Amino acid sequence: MNGGCNVGCNVGCNVGINGGKPDRTSDRNADHRPGRTTGPLVDLRLDRAHSSRIYDYFLGGKTNFLADRVAAASVLSVFPSALIAARINREFMHRTTRCLVKAGMRQFLDIGTGIPTPPNLHDIAQGIAPDARIVYTDNDPIVLAHAAALLLSTPEGRTAYVQSDVNNPEAILAAPQLRDTLDLRKPVALSLNALMHFVTDDGRDRAHTIVDTLKSALPSGSTLAMTHATPDFSPDTMQKIVEIYRGAGTVLQFRSRGEFLRFFEGWELMEPGVALSHQWRPDRPEDATYVTDAEAGCYAAVARKP
Ligand SMILES: C[S@@+](CC[C@H](N)C(=O)[O-])C[C@H]1O[C@@H](n2cnc3c(N)ncnc32)[C@H](O)[C@@H]1O
Repeated sequence: MNGGCNVGCNVGCNVGINGGKPDRTSDRNADHRPGRTTGPLVDLRLDRAHSSRIYDYFLGGKTNFLADRVAAASVLSVFPSALIAARINREFMHRTTRCLVKAGMRQFLDIGTGIPTPPNLHDIAQGIAPDARIVYTDNDPIVLAHAAALLLSTPEGRTAYVQSDVNNPEAILAAPQLRDTLDLRKPVALSLNALMHFVTDDGRDRAHTIVDTLKSALPSGSTLAMTHATPDFSPDTMQKIVEIYRGAGTVLQFRSRGEFLRFFEGWELMEPGVALSHQWRPDRPEDATYVTDAEAGCYAAVARKP
């Protein structure tokens, strides 16, 4: 399948899918028929690879297209463990969510959510605590188009979706969907998994400034869970991945352990501190040795605001 589908959504922004056709975002494309929820069509550029769809391919999902699969094949040719690295990244989210809910967290803000892939964060959180409240955010319209799967909350809890860019953290924090769902006077579990390496610094320390803005808005007892790709173990391979993504139109900046650690400055790291994504509190001891550090290629940590 490569384009042509027209999926509507009713999550506060009117977006339709316009598979790979020229950009058409004007209101003349809106579907004005009574009862229709689609608005102006947004060009999803299905002819171009996109990070969320490449990741969906690595996870074995179905929301990816030829350009995404071509880029994914290039990544796999230099980094054959990409499929495993994606899966263990996702499993870090599963484990941290379980851990944080069991520790009493009831509010979650997940930025860079990705295309829904069950179990999603709310499936796990509300499976343990049905009253958990979750706000999802991504800047990719295709994630928005599939957001219905993220909005199937328990009656006791609540989920919401904010279409926004992490480069504008103030807009995320001010979004009505977030303010209606989360009480920012109470602890929030913030997750930024496999997201911040899509934010380049361009000499301005942008990524850390963004994370600091988000951290500052949250009260004591809040947590930050994060994964981030690193060049520390195989710099040449990771540089090739940066070039493949750049060729596909996406900039990446992988960061060292020290740069990753700095995202948590002022907060208390939970055990075991900074680890490879599969080594952060593995479910079974053998999971910690499932892949080498270079095959995982991604740091993970969780910290709590004092
Ligand atoms: C590799 S996926 C990770 C998905 C999910 N967090 C996980 O770890 O399973 C990265 C996601 O971040 C989103 N993303 C990339 N840049 C972004 C930005 N500037 N603002 C918001 N989301 C962004 C992409 O659209 C994609 O859905």
